[in-house]
Amino acid sequence: MPTLWHGRFDGEPDEALLAYTVSLPFDVRLAEVDLVASRAHVRGLLRAAVIDGAESELILGGLDQVEAELADGTFIFVPADEDIHTAVERRLTELTGDVGAKLHTGRSRNDQVATDLRLYTRAAVVGVAEGALNLQQVLLDQARAAGQSYLPGYTHLQRAQPVLLAHHLLAHFWALSRDVDRLCEAHARVNISPLGAGALAGTSLPLDPHATARDLGFAGAFHNSLDAVSDRDFVAEVIFSLALCGVHLSRMGEEFVLFSSDEFGFVTLDDAWSTGSSMLPQKKNPDVAELARGKAGRVIGDLTTILVVLKGLPLAYNRDLQEDKEPLFDAIDQVSLGLTAMSGLLASTTFNHGVMAQAADTPAGAAVDLAEYLVSQGVPFRTAHTIVGGLVRQSLSGGETLRSLVESHPDFGGEAAAILDAGVPVTRRTSPGGAGPVPLEAQLIAAAEALSVARQRVASLQR
Ligand code: ARG
Repeated sequence: MPTLWHGRFDGEPDEALLAYTVSLPFDVRLAEVDLVASRAHVRGLLRAAVIDGAESELILGGLDQVEAELADGTFIFVPADEDIHTAVERRLTELTGDVGAKLHTGRSRNDQVATDLRLYTRAAVVGVAEGALNLQQVLLDQARAAGQSYLPGYTHLQRAQPVLLAHHLLAHFWALSRDVDRLCEAHARVNISPLGAGALAGTSLPLDPHATARDLGFAGAFHNSLDAVSDRDFVAEVIFSLALCGVHLSRMGEEFVLFSSDEFGFVTLDDAWSTGSSMLPQKKNPDVAELARGKAGRVIGDLTTILVVLKGLPLAYNRDLQEDKEPLFDAIDQVSLGLTAMSGLLASTTFNHGVMAQAADTPAGAAVDLAEYLVSQGVPFRTAHTIVGGLVRQSLSGGETLRSLVESHPDFGGEAAAILDAGVPVTRRTSPGGAGPVPLEAQLIAAAEALSVARQRVASLQR
């Protein structure tokens, strides 16, 4: 079976060359978009009168046949099919003869592969954004279900101040909301058609890239043919958005790992979302959460791959660009799976409210509230900080509890000591966006509103 480019060559390509350069095993997933883009190109050739109506019908019919063979598994690939574009054109020409050989007129695999990849990425970005919206919904549902439950808030992984569980969960909600924004913004730059750029410089034929762009639902066409075939910014940008989303999943995963440990005991994972040990009969492990952490490393690797592939390339197309697909596909697959898995894990998790409250109800968790009590009495904050710090130090060195020290202190007394009562400190987080019940009410409303706006935005994106 000859290659697409056999005319210029004396003999057959070496088998080892084909083994090294072939991309079919991974770009076969572009088959569907390749057919979509080829049909648009056929319609463009017809509008330009490069082919006539009968020829266009024959080619489109041939492409339908290729599609059917790919769908029912009867498509037979041959060794010279170095990529999916070659395979489709080769089979079309077998089916339709000379007329099929007109398909590639005014087109190069360079603008073709860029078009296919943009079509594929455009739909994939919408899919991932939907996955992120679903996880946001689970976070919002769990936040609503958490009521007034609270846990220690941490800095440096040391208990700092009690925070409402709903507030903690919504912190992750807002990170995902930025991920969705970023994907929507990246989508706008993905949604530009490179079809018609040819190999690098356009064509002498009267093809109209703007018309094919419209036909394919792109928001516009390229302005510069060299840029059109060599630009993979959209790949890097989408992988970055996915990598950051992966990092967010990883941070959530890390908390699940910590919080489900006996040391914390804040959450109990559902059996359906936990794994066992092959040796230790008692084990119940948070593997989903750990993989969310681990796979983030892999997706960051995908980002590094594409940036390094791009960094040394002169204009325009270089075969290095074939290396754009595997990191992109991997990042899409892994982050999509991660969003689904994390949604399932979170939705089925039981929060152990009593354990969390007990951990949060240490008197020292109200230290800043005591200092702010003094501030309300006119004491400068720095002075108040030093006074309370001294009482904490005293209580830690044994003997009296912080509470009794506060009760007997001339600047405090019984009213101030009541601030230390279990469950009280978190109610004092009243500032907007803060961790207490009053600002939480507003936050829950804002989150629901933001989610519905984002849903509409994602639903309006071209797939
Ligand atoms: N499989 C190639 C890729 O993914 C298609 C473009 C090949 N173009 C070329 N001039 N060899 O980039």
